[in-house]
Amino acid sequence: MHVLGIETSCDETAVALLDERGVPLCDLLTSQIDLHEKFGGVVPEIASRRHIEVIGPMVREVLERSGRSLKETQAVAVTVGPGLVGALLVGVSFAKSVGYALNVPVVPINHLEGHIAAVFLERSEVTFPAVALVVSGGHTSLFLMSGPGKYHLLGRTLDDAAGEVLDKAARMLSLGYPGGPILDRLARSGDPGAISFPRPYRSLASLDFSFSGLKTALRHYLTGRGGVDAIQSELPQIAASYQEAIVDVLVEKSLAALEVSGAKSLIMAGGVAANSRLRARMAEGTARMGLALFIPPPRYCTDNGAMIAMAGLMRYREGEFASLELNAEPDLELFCQALSEGRPAL
Ligand code: KG4
Ligand code: ZN
Repeated sequence: MHVLGIETSCDETAVALLDERGVPLCDLLTSQIDLHEKFGGVVPEIASRRHIEVIGPMVREVLERSGRSLKETQAVAVTVGPGLVGALLVGVSFAKSVGYALNVPVVPINHLEGHIAAVFLERSEVTFPAVALVVSGGHTSLFLMSGPGKYHLLGRTLDDAAGEVLDKAARMLSLGYPGGPILDRLARSGDPGAISFPRPYRSLASLDFSFSGLKTALRHYLTGRGGVDAIQSELPQIAASYQEAIVDVLVEKSLAALEVSGAKSLIMAGGVAANSRLRARMAEGTARMGLALFIPPPRYCTDNGAMIAMAGLMRYREGEFASLELNAEPDLELFCQALSEGRPAL
């Protein structure tokens, strides 16, 4: 028996199979970066069409590589939101067809819950209550979790996500896409204190974030230095300093969230959680507080099918399935399943 996980919320098709203990058997990803690159961003119609082309063959390949047959599927987990509606619909329709054909439950998964569930792929001993920082190309949010699947929103970005400002900086610096891993590598040979970029929205009176001002600061810096061509030798310093501004705010607000909530541990997930500097700084900060830190291995931080299958397995164990009426929900919020109203006072 196994759980099939399907993720098509944006420009990556991801499919994975987990055994009944939650161990990934096979996990495949098809990226569409090359298709969208020339348009300077994801084109929703092209994304949906590509998902349709690859999803069937990918499921077949995952089954083959795992040595399993489709008939052994015990549940199908699929991302229902948030994301691009057309892209989500491809995964949702595919999952419903498999569920109907095999007469097995379909488990609807929130993409953010998927990211958080990646920490359970290799362990199950997460201590609750926990604060969860989900930090990716589309999201930067802090939740208080009283247990698996129980979320209370503490703060979120008011404008750009952290990954988005890393990607935009890399584009301004003509470094390519996605920018996060490129800046991460470059920053290793730079001095994070070399250039003083602003720490936007640093006040701990709020656990919300705001990162868009940082892009403007970089643009002004580049203009002042005479453009990108003039600063090639400075790239490691720029990468390290810019990244540090983001890391400082993410670490300070996550630690503040731990303090005000009295949580026992911190979960960090999402593509930016793969960042080596952020991982090291968060480990230092939580160790100083004597609290546990749970971060998925880097390959399970960025979008993948295993995290969706894991979230599905956890909800399936709780008996939470959907009827075949389920639909894509492009604006789905995670704290729909919240503990209570309002945010804790700071
Ligand atoms: O979770 P993800 O794959 O997709 C979303 O749900 O958004 O995250 C993608 C984001 C991109 O912005 C990418 O630049 C960033 O994660 N990212 C990183 C690293 N690896 C991926 N950011 C910083 N350092 C990394 N090593
Ligand atoms: Zn994601």
